[in-house]
Amino acid sequence: MNVLSLFDLKGEKAIVTGGGQGLGREMALALAEAGADVALAQRHVEVAEKTADEIKKLGRDSLAIKMDVSKADDVQNMVNTVIEKFGKIDILINNAGIAQGKSFLGMSEEDWDTMMDIHVKGTFLCSQMVAREMVKLKKGSIINLSSMSGFIVNRPQKQTHYNTAKAAVAHFTKSLAMELAKYNIRVNAIAPGYMKTEMTGPVLNTDMAKEWLSLSPMGRFGEPYEIKGLALYLASRASSFVTGSVVLLDGGYCCW
Ligand SMILES: NC(=O)c1ccc[n+]([C@@H]2O[C@H](COP(=O)([O-])OP(=O)(O)OC[C@H]3O[C@@H](n4cnc5c(N)ncnc54)[C@H](O)[C@@H]3O)[C@@H](O)[C@H]2O)c1
Repeated sequence: MNVLSLFDLKGEKAIVTGGGQGLGREMALALAEAGADVALAQRHVEVAEKTADEIKKLGRDSLAIKMDVSKADDVQNMVNTVIEKFGKIDILINNAGIAQGKSFLGMSEEDWDTMMDIHVKGTFLCSQMVAREMVKLKKGSIINLSSMSGFIVNRPQKQTHYNTAKAAVAHFTKSLAMELAKYNIRVNAIAPGYMKTEMTGPVLNTDMAKEWLSLSPMGRFGEPYEIKGLALYLASRASSFVTGSVVLLDGGYCCW
């Protein structure tokens, strides 16, 4: 089999949560460039609509859905809307997320719950409701966004809740992969290091970011497009024997 054909997503249908901007946008474009139709689901739907237009210009179908990944009714509505429009779901990327710097002693119950609701509960809800559709197809690829923060403790910023949520996403990935393997549904995760997106943009010129750079073997942050190849690999048949993997995309940060 020709290796490039393994990356071909023609006829495949995908959902990317938080797909309007940042890493989600790059991954959504990667899937569309490889031939998939892609739905973008997030709270700020205006942002998703712009990316949906970019995808349509590539000759693929797309739609933007306003939703909150931590609300079960929103997630079910997202799945129903995509099934109505596309007829099936082959690929889900659980990308929606937030960041917050907060010391442990100053953290409120609400800070903790919000972080867990979006990253852990949101990944659970979207995976479960989409997997119920993938089981009917007897195939699927789910990709979760963990982080290097699920493996190391970032410094100097304090973010116990974020680190804990991303570690949970990594182990959720492995647990779910084991349950869904018999249905030919693969579940993997990407664990990025510091990438230049809207999430990190506001602090990239600060002393904190200088410290991040001094701890980075490659001496630079990741460009958003640098996630595209890995996302396409995990979404496509190129990774057909890969499941339960959490792949670091961190320029070597976790080695030091
Ligand atoms: N940028 C980095 O350095 C970095 C590093 C490691 C992991 N990550 C993870 O990668 C993912 C994407 O990060 P990014 O840098 O592109 O962030 P970003 O802030 O640019 O984009 C996040 C997207 O998630 C959406 N979102 C947030 N909460 C939501 C909710 N409750 N429901 C629906 N949509 C919601 C936002 O609308 C936005 O479109 C996140 O899970 C993040 O934690 C990012």
